[in-house]
Amino acid sequence: MKILSIESSCDETAAAVVENGRTILSSVVATQVEEHKLYGGVVPEIASRRHCEAINGVVAEALEQADLSFDGLDAVAVTYAPGLIGALLVGVNFAKGLSLATGLPLVPVHHLRSHIASNYLAHSELKPPFLCLVVSGGHSHIVEVKSYTEMKVIGKTRDDAAGEAFDKAARTMGMPYPGGIHLDKAAESGDPDSFRLPHPKVDGAPYDFSFSGLKTAVINQIHNASQKGVNLPVNDLSASFRKAVVDSLMENFIKAAESLGYETLVLAGGVSANSLLRKRVAEECEKRGWRCYYPPLELCGDNAAMVGSQGYYEYLAGHTASADLNARPTLNIEKNYG
Ligand code: KG4
Ligand code: ZN
Repeated sequence: MKILSIESSCDETAAAVVENGRTILSSVVATQVEEHKLYGGVVPEIASRRHCEAINGVVAEALEQADLSFDGLDAVAVTYAPGLIGALLVGVNFAKGLSLATGLPLVPVHHLRSHIASNYLAHSELKPPFLCLVVSGGHSHIVEVKSYTEMKVIGKTRDDAAGEAFDKAARTMGMPYPGGIHLDKAAESGDPDSFRLPHPKVDGAPYDFSFSGLKTAVINQIHNASQKGVNLPVNDLSASFRKAVVDSLMENFIKAAESLGYETLVLAGGVSANSLLRKRVAEECEKRGWRCYYPPLELCGDNAAMVGSQGYYEYLAGHTASADLNARPTLNIEKNYG
């Protein structure tokens, strides 16, 4: 089964063709990051306009690279939630138009579910059930993936998402948007024990996260130093911050796996590109004889191939939509369409 998939939830316009949820026939991503960099973050109105301009060409290129026309497709999948509403609407309306014009079934896909599915594209042996740490720019969840379409959130952030915390700390250190990757690189040559940072815990919720205090601690250190005319060593501060975030993520992730009896651990979302997080999950799993998976770097960020993968499993579960499909800015990952 070949699915044409579309993603436009934030600042990448993407289209792909994926076969049977596991094989990428084509994947095209048009990023807007250079333009949003000028403003230090995504400007929603600009994002929507750029999606409108790019989507036709991106979809045509995905079909061309897969050497397919609409006749060779079996369904159209699209990210419909969560994300920037104006951005999502571009992809959703384009997919609805395609479905109406071609008669192909329309499959709505939850953005975070698709991040999880990016692992199915790279690891053919991976099947639910497993425990997944979903860490992106907008979300930090520990999710029990009971089947391809049954999920249970057992922990989440109470304030900032991990990616958001990385980006804000990086921005204060003068790094360009999106700062997570720059902070990660700077941290490689820094000393993680050079700055004392808080280790946040959420009372009575052992799997929940809180990153806003950590972010504020870094921002305060930088501001205090600059008032005294001191330049802080950015590499050391980056390394200390990265360690604090990864320690907090890993502590809850491992605790949850141990108490719920999961021995397969999976990372997903933009922050799964973080080199320390990848290293730590591999080490912790190896110590315990558990299996560990994370997406290849090119599938960690937003792309449409992952939407085609999850779309396949949603289609098999009967989760298709009619022309009244709407986009939604927020939606619980546990909720199935329809
Ligand atoms: O999943 P994603 O591409 O978009 C959303 O759905 O939000 O995640 C983007 C986030 C950004 O906050 C970005 O800075 C972060 O992932 N990120 C990283 C790294 N690469 C991307 N954070 C830490 N270390 C990285 N290497
Ligand atoms: Zn994403």
